[in-house]
Amino acid sequence: MNNNFEPKIVAFCCHYCAYAAADLAGSGRLQYPPNIRIIRSPCTGRLEIDFFMKAFEAGADGVLVAGCEEGSCHFKEGNYLAKRRVNTTKQLLLEAGLEPERLRMVNVSAASSQKFVEYVRDMVETVAKLGPTRNKKTTTKEKTGAI
Ligand code: FES
Repeated sequence: MNNNFEPKIVAFCCHYCAYAAADLAGSGRLQYPPNIRIIRSPCTGRLEIDFFMKAFEAGADGVLVAGCEEGSCHFKEGNYLAKRRVNTTKQLLLEAGLEPERLRMVNVSAASSQKFVEYVRDMVETVAKLGPTRNKKTTTKEKTGAI
């Protein structure tokens, strides 16, 4: 692992659970690495494959998708839809020469701030071991034709 490398991770968090858990972690003063940039979404089901790929194109080293626990999505099946899109995107990453581990979906309830923190720590650790994407991603769009 490169000790100087600080991965940039975009975290798409659904408003009702994951974002609330992140907010609770903040108000509870739970500490987690500052490597993540949270983007709040009404539901993970709103997130398109394009959003994940664009995050990588824009320089993210990893993308975390955090939604409600399975069976608890406020829009019923949004997190199941997101899970399928995440899995499809992993395949596209592979085809583009990026490790699929750079993209991960987790499920967390609004009250699980500690769990949210653990997910963030684990994601940062995983991506730090993988190293930066900037030398690998050049023409993700062209290679996959996905976006
Ligand atoms: Fe949280 Fe749908 S509202 S994943």
